Amino acid sequence: MEKNILVAYASKRGATAEIAEKIGEVVRQNGLQADVLPVNKVRDLTPYRAVVLGSAVYIGLWRRGAVKFLRENENRLSEIHVWLFSSGPTGSGDPLEITEGWCFPESLRPLIERIQPRDITCFGGKLDLKTMNFIEKMIINKVKAPVGDFRNWEAITKWAKNIGGSLFRRGD
Ligand SMILES: Cc1cc2nc3c(=O)[nH]c(=O)nc-3n(C[C@H](O)[C@H](O)[C@H](O)COP(=O)(O)O)c2cc1C
Repeated sequence: MEKNILVAYASKRGATAEIAEKIGEVVRQNGLQADVLPVNKVRDLTPYRAVVLGSAVYIGLWRRGAVKFLRENENRLSEIHVWLFSSGPTGSGDPLEITEGWCFPESLRPLIERIQPRDITCFGGKLDLKTMNFIEKMIINKVKAPVGDFRNWEAITKWAKNIGGSLFRRGD
């Protein structure tokens, strides 16, 4: 049977993985089939008619695995429906306001423009001092990034509902 949607993610500390799981759950509630996998576990895109790819952001960059996934699968991704998200900014309020509209690394723009995703967004992230190493703590201190869990499950759910909704609407 054709699988409907792949939700692939690149996460270092698990916060982005949990966002991906939530997206998969919402998509399934919309009656679609969804696999949720870390990017390095994805072997074949042919069973999927849509892909959601999310990456955690570290020092302005996507995780290497997410970039590799985009590059290696560019041809297939240009043929199917794709949604992208970054997860990272911390602090209260709309993450896209915190990042002043930034939602993916500029170096990926040409590749992303060729793939033509249906939407790209940025979700808030989670910073937990307990899981950070010394250097990471220094970076976070220096940029004064607020520590805590700023993932907005309502916004994530709303975005994921649109994915299922738009696939149904198009009837493909
Ligand atoms: C050293 C370090 C650098 C980070 N750099 C950024 C950044 O440039 N932009 C951003 O939005 N978030 C940044 N973050 C926040 C992470 O993206 C956020 O903690 C995210 O939720 C981590 O996801 P993960 O648990 O899936 O790895 C940084 C976090 C750390 C520890």
